[in-house]
Amino acid sequence: MGAIFQSLGRTVTAGVVLVVILLVAAGTGVKYDHAWGQFVMRWLHVLCGIMWIGLLWYFNFVQMPSMPKIPDEQKPAVSKVIAPEALFWFRWSALATVVTGLAVATMSGYIASALGLQRPFTAIGIGMWLALVMAFNVWFIIWPNQKKALGIVQVEADVKAKAARVAMLTSRFNTMLSVPMLFCMVAQQNGGLG
Ligand code: HEM
Repeated sequence: MGAIFQSLGRTVTAGVVLVVILLVAAGTGVKYDHAWGQFVMRWLHVLCGIMWIGLLWYFNFVQMPSMPKIPDEQKPAVSKVIAPEALFWFRWSALATVVTGLAVATMSGYIASALGLQRPFTAIGIGMWLALVMAFNVWFIIWPNQKKALGIVQVEADVKAKAARVAMLTSRFNTMLSVPMLFCMVAQQNGGLG
């Protein structure tokens, strides 16, 4: 057991093995058809989405409010080590969520209707547009500004301070959008918007 949990790779692999065990136990009850493939894509989509929004909420609920409480000489532990690592998983999970989400909509045959906000796909269409705006913000506003704010790209002190503020405000904006976005994601299957 210890050997598994001392490695993140082995821990995640163990999680996948547990899913395989569930499938083997389910036996012939599972039909491996198109609908099942669609379901697997949904599962991957939710996994990626949790990684993305989990890290967004970590930044907003934990890291940002904690920074003023950390003594200056200890701040580099966050800005030089933790934040760059978190931002790596944050931006790539955002991209993976977009790709798997668009794949789910394509496999379900409603991508054009949803993006066109046509009934009965209005709820997921709004959710997809909100999440696309959020993903755009991650890649084209938050990440370029964080690179300046964290010193990954060297800039003057005033540019650095401005970049940190833009990244913070955009991250807050995404946190606001995450609330209606998730509402819409789950509303489609469950009649949340009628
Ligand atoms: C641009 C990004 C995204 C796109 C294109 C997208 C697309 C989709 C689509 C097409 C569905 C299936 C809806 C249905 O037919 O019921 C879905 C469901 C879902 N999505 Fe997203 N999504 C995105 C972002 C996110 C994010 C960031 C999360 C955060 C966790 C998320 C969580 C969910 C959840 C929980 C479901 C419900 C699954 C179910 O009820 O079976 N999505 N999404």
